[in-house]
Amino acid sequence: MSMFPVFSDLKGKVALVMGIGQTHVPGSDIWGNGAAMARALCLNGVKVFGCDLDLSAAERTATRLRDEGGVCDVTTADVTSSSDVQRVVGAAMAKHKRIDILVNNVGMTAPGNPVNMAEQVWDAQLNLNLKSVYLSCHHVLPIMDRQGSGSIVNNASIAGVSYLGKHQVAYSTAKAAVIHFTRVTAVMYAPKNIRLNCVVPGMILTPLVENLGKSEREEDRQVYRKITEHNVPMGKLGEPEDVANVALFLASDAAKYMTGQSLVVDGGLTSQTGTGQ
Ligand SMILES: NC(=O)c1ccc[n+]([C@@H]2O[C@H](COP(=O)([O-])OP(=O)(O)OC[C@H]3O[C@@H](n4cnc5c(N)ncnc54)[C@H](O)[C@@H]3O)[C@@H](O)[C@H]2O)c1
Repeated sequence: MSMFPVFSDLKGKVALVMGIGQTHVPGSDIWGNGAAMARALCLNGVKVFGCDLDLSAAERTATRLRDEGGVCDVTTADVTSSSDVQRVVGAAMAKHKRIDILVNNVGMTAPGNPVNMAEQVWDAQLNLNLKSVYLSCHHVLPIMDRQGSGSIVNNASIAGVSYLGKHQVAYSTAKAAVIHFTRVTAVMYAPKNIRLNCVVPGMILTPLVENLGKSEREEDRQVYRKITEHNVPMGKLGEPEDVANVALFLASDAAKYMTGQSLVVDGGLTSQTGTGQ
C-alpha cells in the first residue's frame, strides 16, 4: 500500500515539477523533497513532467517512478533562465496539452551575512530561490488561466520565517519573499480558480543532508551537526515524505478553499522559543 494518502481528484491530472532530481548518495534510498513530491503525485495517478539542472538526477527519479508504475517524463533546465523555463513549459504542454499542478521545488542555501556575502552570491541566491518561482509562474499562469483552473505549490523553508542559527541572509530573505509572493499572487488569481500555497519545511533528512553527515570534510559534518542538533520538539528530523504529503494535499481539491497559505512542516520547531519542554 502507498505511504501517501489518496486524493481521488488527482487521478489523470498533469503536474510540472521544477527540481525533480535529488543529490545522489550511492547506496541511499532516501528521496529528495522534489522527488518525493513527484512520487506522491505519481502514486495518485498524476502524469508528471519534471525538470532539473542535473539531467541524470532527474532521470534517476523518473526511473524510480516508472518502476512503481508512474507516468513521468523529464528534461534538463536551469530554472533561473526564462528561456529554459519557457522551453520546459512548452515541452510539458506538447506532451500533455495542460498543466493542472505546478510544483516549485528548486532551492539551495549559501552561507553569509550582508557584509561577508559577495554581491554575486546574493544575486545568484535570489535568482535560484525567488526569481525561479516568478519565472515558472510567469510561463504557467497564462496556461492555467486559459484552462480555468490550476494549483501551484511552492516549496519555501522555515528559514523564511525564523533565524535558524546560521548566517544565510540571502536564502532566508528569498524564502520569506516566496511566502509573500505566494500570498499576493494567490489573491490576484483567486477569481480565476487558480490557487497558490506554500509548504514550509523545517529540518528534513534529504540525501543532501545525509551526504553532509557522511562527508570526509569536517566543515560538512559541522553543518550536519548544526542541522541535527536543532531542538525540534518532536525530537527528530522530518522526512521528505512529510513534506510531500502536505504538498499533495495542497495540490489536491481537498484544499480547494485554501489559497495564499503556508503550511509549516517542522515538528514544532518554529513554535517554540525556549530550550525545550
Ligand atoms: N532539506 C531540507 O532540510 C529543507 C528544508 C527546508 C526547505 N527545503 C527546500 O526544499 C527544496 C528541495 O531541497 P532538497 O534538500 O530536497 O534539495 P536537493 O538538492 O536534493 O534537490 C534540489 C534539486 O534542485 C536541482 N537544482 C539546483 N539548481 C537548479 C537549477 N538552477 N535549475 C534546475 N534545478 C536545479 C538540483 O540539481 C537538485 O536535484 C529547496 O527549495 C529547499 O530550499 C529543504
